Amino acid sequence: MILVIGATGKTGSQTVKHLLARGASVRAFVRNPEKAAPLKEQGAELFVGDIADETAVAKALDGIESVMLTLPNGPNQLEWELGVIKQAEAAGVKHLTYMSSTESNADNPRRIPQVHVKAVEAIEASSLGWTILRPNFFMQAIFGFAASVKANDSFTFPAGDGTATMCDARDIGEVAAIILTGDGHIGKTYDLTGPDILSMHDVARLLTETLGRTIAYVPMSLDDFGAYLGKFLKSEWHNEGVVELMQEMSEEGGLKFKTETLGELLGRPPRSLAQFITEHKAMYEG
Ligand SMILES: NC(=O)c1ccc[n+]([C@@H]2O[C@H](COP(=O)([O-])OP(=O)(O)OC[C@H]3O[C@@H](n4cnc5c(N)ncnc54)[C@H](OP(=O)(O)O)[C@@H]3O)[C@@H](O)[C@H]2O)c1
Repeated sequence: MILVIGATGKTGSQTVKHLLARGASVRAFVRNPEKAAPLKEQGAELFVGDIADETAVAKALDGIESVMLTLPNGPNQLEWELGVIKQAEAAGVKHLTYMSSTESNADNPRRIPQVHVKAVEAIEASSLGWTILRPNFFMQAIFGFAASVKANDSFTFPAGDGTATMCDARDIGEVAAIILTGDGHIGKTYDLTGPDILSMHDVARLLTETLGRTIAYVPMSLDDFGAYLGKFLKSEWHNEGVVELMQEMSEEGGLKFKTETLGELLGRPPRSLAQFITEHKAMYEG
């Protein structure tokens, strides 16, 4: 039995779907059973609880061989992840697959990368078999541009001229399922990127080409972005953490490399941003 933590999320929901398609037994750790109903319909067992509840985590781990651990960024992320790692070890879990990110290197002092660095240190120091996934920026972020593209033929984002090698969260969730059900992944760290190194100018160009009308990218200042995020994010830690990531992209240039690893693991080319925009074209149209 495989436990997926973060099962209703962008990647976790895909991991559940692809695990079930591969014939695995899945327990989905969820907070909200209504939101998780599609996972149950697909054949997953639901475990309803909050990851902050140690008793619930211990119960959810009962009888589990492998765990997928993905939690959202926030002030409690590291504490929760360290708790899961410790309890997974105590429960005799054989393999833990953990969602980190490409920028989470030991010498990156920013708070979100440091959460992943410290969680990975704890995983590596444990007796668990492990696999670390380090994806770059998810394409799903550009759903956030849809309203403005529809209304104004433009979008704003605090990326300056920086680049990212954006990947589709669906591909990352699928790769997690491949790793959780396959051999040869224990002790491996995978840097996962999409096929193209893209700036937001490129995103505007791809939107223009696909939609057949000119879409402009208007860079946003980090201060304005922080104020905008403040309307949605409850925690100052999270707000500042996201601004730090965008500062890395806008002022230090962002990610400048791509890897072939995602396609090699999937056994097919990863989705490109051009494909992603074409697939979701209707969201950006009148
Ligand atoms: N976004 C990116 O571009 C990107 C790129 C690389 C790496 N990452 C890493 O990916 C991780 C986020 O993954 P994601 O985008 O798949 O996340 P996501 O879509 O935000 O999903 C987060 C999941 O965690 C669940 N969750 C949140 N709080 C919980 C709690 N207290 N107890 C139990 N479950 C809880 C959510 O449940 P609900 O549905 O109930 O909220 C949801 O299922 C982060 O660690 C981030 O650093 C992100």
